Amino acid sequence: MSVRKGVFLVAGLGTRTLPAAKSIPKVMLPLADKPAIQYVVEEAVAAGIEQVILVTAAGNQAVEDYFDTAYRLEESLATRGKHKELAELQGLKEMATVIGVRQHAPLGTGDAVRTARSVVGDEPFAVFLPDDVIDGDPPAIKQLIDAHDTYGGEVVAVMPVPHAHVDRYGIVEGTHVAAGVQRLRSLIEKPPASEAPSNLAIVGRYVFTPTIFEYIDRIPTGTGGEIQITDAINMLAQENPVHSCEFTGKRYDMGDKVGYLTASIDLALKRPDLRPGLLAYLRGLDLDKMDTAT
Ligand code: G1P
Repeated sequence: MSVRKGVFLVAGLGTRTLPAAKSIPKVMLPLADKPAIQYVVEEAVAAGIEQVILVTAAGNQAVEDYFDTAYRLEESLATRGKHKELAELQGLKEMATVIGVRQHAPLGTGDAVRTARSVVGDEPFAVFLPDDVIDGDPPAIKQLIDAHDTYGGEVVAVMPVPHAHVDRYGIVEGTHVAAGVQRLRSLIEKPPASEAPSNLAIVGRYVFTPTIFEYIDRIPTGTGGEIQITDAINMLAQENPVHSCEFTGKRYDMGDKVGYLTASIDLALKRPDLRPGLLAYLRGLDLDKMDTAT
């Protein structure tokens, strides 16, 4: 069965993106002129996802509102003849069917995925951690869906990271199956470098079957006192096939301030309307002087 539903975990508190995230959900922070969540939803839609399930929390209503009608704004644009802007806003609503579900407490990624259980139903689905914005062609989630179609079962996106950074990620270990694909034996959430079985890190894209829900119900509380999706996948991998997919594409970490700034620059440079002005500015920077000035 094709993957039609995408679950987007947008309920995070955004502690790494303070102070802005105090009143703006971090996935609403703009990269050029679009919020991060829009890039991630566009990735999903380009991969054939038809239903966007937003796992939200109290205080981040702005994410759902973004994909809803902004009645007063749209009426005003129509009255003032701003048809291009109006069409852009209306296009947002037409990208996919959007459904919001609420996570009632910050209990972790596993709990957040479980919140979407009744909406997902009995079919495979994709999960997105929109902190990770990925610029990929084909879209990263499409690469995972293709792996799911080939190998069945669950698929996790991975990328190599410096060994010194393994304690920031879920880390996987498995057996080579094909170029960029491993059958996983174990997954461990944020291990100390001394205990990491590899430097292949999980990135926030997954394809799951409904079987994952049984394992989320079985795992105990993990790293950080949270129900970790990594622990559920690890338990499932002991009994069922789980593959990792080393996707092609560039990943930006929205939770890291330099990652956020890098994404803003790179994605703006890809825009024909923004590129010339930004490039002219960047070319004018005297980087050598800046280096010695700090
Ligand atoms: C989450 C996952 C982790 C993964 C990471 C990728 O961690 O739990 O396995 O490696 O996203 O961004 P977080 O960054 O939310 O702590």
